[in-house]
This record gives sequence, C-alpha cells and structure tokens, in this order.
Amino acid sequence: MVIIGIAFYLPFLIFGAFPYNTKINSNSDEMGQLLEGFESVDFYAMSEYLTESPEEIQREIHAFETWEGGKCRFCHAVKKEDRDRMAPTLYGIFGRPAGVGNNYTYSDALINMKTNGLIWTPETLDAFILNPSEYIPGNRMRVQGIEDPETRKLIVNYLMRESKPIKGE
Ligand code: HEC
Repeated sequence: MVIIGIAFYLPFLIFGAFPYNTKINSNSDEMGQLLEGFESVDFYAMSEYLTESPEEIQREIHAFETWEGGKCRFCHAVKKEDRDRMAPTLYGIFGRPAGVGNNYTYSDALINMKTNGLIWTPETLDAFILNPSEYIPGNRMRVQGIEDPETRKLIVNYLMRESKPIKGE
C-alpha cells in the first residue's frame, strides 16, 4: 500500500505534476476580463519572431527539445494533436492568460498570477524561463533558469512557430 502510494505521488514529487486531472478553467466572461486590452493583439502575427531559415528552425527545435536544464518537450505538449503530457499544453500560449489551460490542475502560484493579470507574451515567457521560481514563486515547474538569452530567444521563437492555434479553435 505504501509503495503504491509512493508510486502514485512520484510524478508529483519529481515533476510537480498531478497524476490526475481536476480541471480548473475560466469561463468566457472571466477570460474576457483577463484579456482586457489584449484580446485584439495577435502575437502570432508578429513576424519578427519567425525565420524561414532551415538552420535557424533546427536550432529552435534543438533548444526547445534538448536544453539541458529541463527539456520543455518532455513535459509540455505544443500542438493541438500532441498527446497530453504531465504539464499544461503550450498550444496557443501567446496572448493567453497564465493558468487557463484545460488539461491541467495548476498550482495556486500560477492561479494567482492569472488573477493578477499575467498574460503570456514573448516578453513574459522570456522572463519566466529566465528564472521560473523567482518570476512565479511557489510554481510547480521544476526547471532551472535559462541564463543564455540566445537559448531563451530560440525557445520563444520555437513556440511562436509551433504553438500557433488553428483558426477558430
Ligand atoms: C519537469 C517538467 C517541465 C519542464 C521540463 C518544463 N516545464 Fe513548463 N511547466 C511545468 C509545470 C508542472 C507547469 C505548471 C506549473 C504550476 O502549475 O505551478 C509548467 C508551466 C509552464 C508555463 C505556464 C503555462 C500556463 O498555462 O500558464 C509555461 C509557459 C511553461 N511551463 C513553459 C516551459 C518552457 C518554455 C520550458 C522549457 C524551457 C518548460 N516549460 C519546461 C513543467 C515543466
């Protein structure tokens, strides 16, 4: 029994992920309030983040999938059709309030940031991955901060390209 109990909570201890889902989501009224002033900004249309260079795209993939301090891909889905992983999906992350993904039970820390009006933009995402535990104290993403600005930029650019939501969804 004890062993089963430990096995059940192991993912939580290691990854900060709950082994079950109790969906916390925001209804459309709340989303409207959270996005006030942001609803018309289409971050994905900001082409400055996108490159056509195949080498550059490879570097972005490499940064997102293999960064040593914590491979983002290991914990996060990015595309709509990706299988759910242990952390919230990053599909459509830009322009989305913090803590509203519907496949994940967020920590109070993340939910407080939602209430405080944190919206994910290239800038806030960069600041978060620079130092996750300082930017959102008490959050459950156990990942080292990424000190190299170039690596952070590659990761942000990767998400700009890959997490773009399909229109109307
Ligand atoms: C060990 C697993 C793990 C890794 C690796 C990881 N994350 Fe996370 N991430 C999480 C968890 C768990 C949360 C939810 C935190 C909470 O609820 O406090 C999270 C939350 C987030 C959020 C907020 C999502 C939302 O809906 O508000 C973003 C953005 C994010 N991660 C980006 C990244 C990026 C970029 C990387 C790669 C540098 C990364 N994560 C690596 C586990 C991980």
